[in-house]
Amino acid sequence: MKLKFVLASFLLAIGCSVSAQTVIKFSHVVAADTPKGKASEFFAKKAAELTKGKVKVEVYANSALYKDKEEMEALQIGSVQMLAPSLAKFGPLGVKEFEAFDFPFMFDDTAELHAITQGPVGANMLAKLEPKGIKGLAYWDNGFKSFSANTPLKNVADYKGKKFRIQSSKVLEEQIRSIGGIAQVMAFSEVYQALQTGVVDGTENPISNFYTQKMHEVQKHLSLTNHGYLGYAVIVNKKFWDGLPADVRGQLEQAMKESTVFANKIAQEENDASLAGVKKSGKTIVYEPSKEERFALKKAMAPVHIKMADRVGKDTLQEFYKATGFDPSKL
Ligand code: LMR
Repeated sequence: MKLKFVLASFLLAIGCSVSAQTVIKFSHVVAADTPKGKASEFFAKKAAELTKGKVKVEVYANSALYKDKEEMEALQIGSVQMLAPSLAKFGPLGVKEFEAFDFPFMFDDTAELHAITQGPVGANMLAKLEPKGIKGLAYWDNGFKSFSANTPLKNVADYKGKKFRIQSSKVLEEQIRSIGGIAQVMAFSEVYQALQTGVVDGTENPISNFYTQKMHEVQKHLSLTNHGYLGYAVIVNKKFWDGLPADVRGQLEQAMKESTVFANKIAQEENDASLAGVKKSGKTIVYEPSKEERFALKKAMAPVHIKMADRVGKDTLQEFYKATGFDPSKL
C-alpha cells in the first residue's frame, strides 16, 4: 500500500514536471553552422540553464519546419513560438520601415549598423511589429552580402541580363534592376537547386550562407561586393510571450541578451571562416573588386535610394542616413 502511494506520488511528480515545461519551437531557414544557427543553439542552452529546465527550446534549422514565407505565418498563428527572419522578411508583412535595411550601400560597417539596431530607431521599428501579433526581442548580425554567378562580376556591365535570386523585397528588386539584372524571388531553401539547374544565374548573400548551403559548388565566381546588409530580428509570438510567467520571461530575456552578445561576436568570424572555406574548396574564384569597381556599383545603385524612398518612409530613411552618413544625392 505504502509502495503504491510512493509510486503514485513519483509518477505525479514526473507528470507535473513534464507538464510544467514550456516548449519553444525556434524555426529558421539557414544551416546550423551559421551565425544564426549557432546563436539559436546558444539561446536554447542558456534558456534551459537560466530557467532551470522550465523552458525547452527546440531549434529547427535549414527550413526543416517552414520555408521563408510560411514561417512568419506559422509564428503569427502560434505553430512556432520563435523565429529569427532576415530583416527583409518584414516588408512583405507590411512593416515597410524594415526595407530601409535592404537599401544598397546603406552601411559602411558594423558600427554604423549598430547605431540603428542597438539604438532607439531599431527599438521603435521592433515595436511596429506588435500590431501583427509579433514581439521583437533583439537584432542579430549576419553580415554584408556579396554577389555570385558563373561568369566574372567585375564591372556593372557584367550584371546585365543575368537573373539573380533575391529575397522577397521591392527594394532588392529595384537594386537588381538598377544594374540591368533580372530579379527572381525565391525561398532560401530552393536557391542551391536553382543555381545548379540554371533557373537563376546568380545570387546575393553573406558568405556564411553561401558556403554553408554549398553554393560554391554551383557558382564559379564570387565577387566580394559587400553591397548590402543581411541580418535578423529575433521575434516571438506576442500572445505566447505575454502569457509566460513574469519570472520565466525575465530569465528568457536575460538568455536573449547573452545570446545577442554571442551572435554579434561570432557573425564576422563565421563569415571569415566561410570565405576561407570557399577559397580552400577551389571551386569558386573569389574576386575582390577594386575601389573604383565598387564605387561604380555604388553609383549605379544610388537611384534605388531615390526611387524607393516613399515606400519606406522619408522619416525612417532620414534616421538611417543620420546614423550612417550615407547621402545618395552626393554620388
Ligand atoms: C535569405 O533568404 O537569403 C536569407 O533570409 C537567409 C537567412 O539568412 O535567413
